[in-house]
Amino acid sequence: MTAFYWTIFLLAALCRKTGGQFLDLKNITARDAFLSGTLPDGFLWGTATAAFQIEGGWDSGEKGPSIWDWYSHLPQNVPWGDVATDSYHKYKEDVQMHVNTSLNSYRFSISWPRLFPDGTNTTINQYGVDYYNNLINELQNNGIEPLVTLYHWDLPQKLKERYGGWVNDTLVEMFENYARFCFTTFGDRVKYWTTFNEPWSFVAALGDFNNDPDYTMKYKMAHNVIRAHARAWHTYDDDFRSAQNGSVGIVISSIWGEPADLHNPADRQAATNYMEFFFGWFANPIIGNGDYPDVMKRMVRESRLKQNQTVSPLPEFTEEEKMYNKGTTDFLGINTYTARIISATNETQTCHPDNHNFASACGFMPDLMGVKETVGPGWFYMGSNIFWFAPWNIRGILHFVRERYRYTKPFYLSEVGIGETYKYHSPPNLNDTWRMCFYMTYANEALKAVKLDGVDLRGFYAWTLMDNVEWGSGPDLAFGLYHTNFTHPSRKRTPKRSQGLYGSIARENGFPDNAIHVRMTREWWQWCHMDEAYAPTRHGYVEPTNKPAPCPSVSTAPAAQSLMFTGILGILVVLVAFCSP
Ligand code: NOJ
Repeated sequence: MTAFYWTIFLLAALCRKTGGQFLDLKNITARDAFLSGTLPDGFLWGTATAAFQIEGGWDSGEKGPSIWDWYSHLPQNVPWGDVATDSYHKYKEDVQMHVNTSLNSYRFSISWPRLFPDGTNTTINQYGVDYYNNLINELQNNGIEPLVTLYHWDLPQKLKERYGGWVNDTLVEMFENYARFCFTTFGDRVKYWTTFNEPWSFVAALGDFNNDPDYTMKYKMAHNVIRAHARAWHTYDDDFRSAQNGSVGIVISSIWGEPADLHNPADRQAATNYMEFFFGWFANPIIGNGDYPDVMKRMVRESRLKQNQTVSPLPEFTEEEKMYNKGTTDFLGINTYTARIISATNETQTCHPDNHNFASACGFMPDLMGVKETVGPGWFYMGSNIFWFAPWNIRGILHFVRERYRYTKPFYLSEVGIGETYKYHSPPNLNDTWRMCFYMTYANEALKAVKLDGVDLRGFYAWTLMDNVEWGSGPDLAFGLYHTNFTHPSRKRTPKRSQGLYGSIARENGFPDNAIHVRMTREWWQWCHMDEAYAPTRHGYVEPTNKPAPCPSVSTAPAAQSLMFTGILGILVVLVAFCSP
């Protein structure tokens, strides 16, 4: 009898170790069912923006240039960031747009070179300080909670020229000085800080615009970014927390890597490895054991040995540094837009847009082995080959992070959004039904994460307030709830239809049964799970061919995993009863 219990216990433990971190969302009917209800009181609903993408005024008020100003002024590029959406001058309008959308929070970033033009605290730009003070005060006067990102990719160009950027250890101290200045100057009113936005993106994909085919500089950059994050968190913890009572987190992005076959250990392992290279690279030192994921250390070593490199380019943290890194976050911001299906393979993968494997096969994870990355049949394209409609990725990733890292602090969905390809000079189509579908479904998944999975999720930030400068793509990939007229110097903003819908979700704090948008969501639900709903994101502003049709009544069926759990529990109870003496 004891042996029987031990077997069950060991099987359960094994199952938890290898599969418990993956939610079983394979029953598509259950997975995609609409759920009504509200988010917890005090939930933050907002939009997110970034300084370079909206501020403009690139050399106004004694601001120094950033690496993005440098890049966008190269002869082959268009300097869209010079004016961007002109938020340097129109910040009051930005705040009113939040008020008009019934939002209670705004996530924006501070431009480091606007405060410290050469990146160091030897010169402090008072115009920059005034700008952020005005913006924060305006938010406060309108009852909107600021969530401030210290670094959304716009490194002071002078730090790049003088030190080569994040690859240089000096940046850790430079960042600490900058963070300390922000906490001192704005911390009486800002209670939510994040240090870095999406380190994977600006390290792996951008690399400070360095030429680094060997990826050695990128591993070093990441090392310094993690050290700088930990330093800023400790600075706040030691010198500001008791007086200011705020919290400091980090925003980590990841595509959600879902095992192709949940019951195949090799696929589960491949998906775990994918997540460790994408998410764990930055998360494991901070919310895990203070170090890089074991699998990453091993694979980088092995893959480099195959190339006759005897020294791994992945730097090592000392024991002291590991202790210092560990636990350095009060909350976790997650940016998640999309998902991929991951399976185990021995074949080398070819980087090609049609393979949808840009993250794993196009040089951004050069040492990850044994992974095939693709999208599922029938997934819908959303404006770019990176983004495929997969709202359940929200539940998948939140559950994964909580289970894998035994993470118990709060989460915020710090960016969730949909873009459409569009030529900035075309007439806008403000009837953005695809974006309405997107927020109906993705926000509903946030509700499911809380209600069905018990995740401690405290905020949802739409990317983004208004069409802005999508980095190298300029304004031609538009994610806004408001349209921005980039042909006009005043950058007039006009609400799209999705602004009203998102505002209603925020005002009602989710999907309570009696809300008007819930009736509409139920009617649109089926259509929102069809390719046709998102087709306009591919072609630019083209009217959908069919109007959303009412769907048959959608039940709020319990999710698959709770059914499965009840089933397993039932079988165990019967077995135990049957086997008992
Ligand atoms: C993530 C980045 O944080 C943001 O700057 C970017 O515009 C969006 N994703 C959309 O690509």
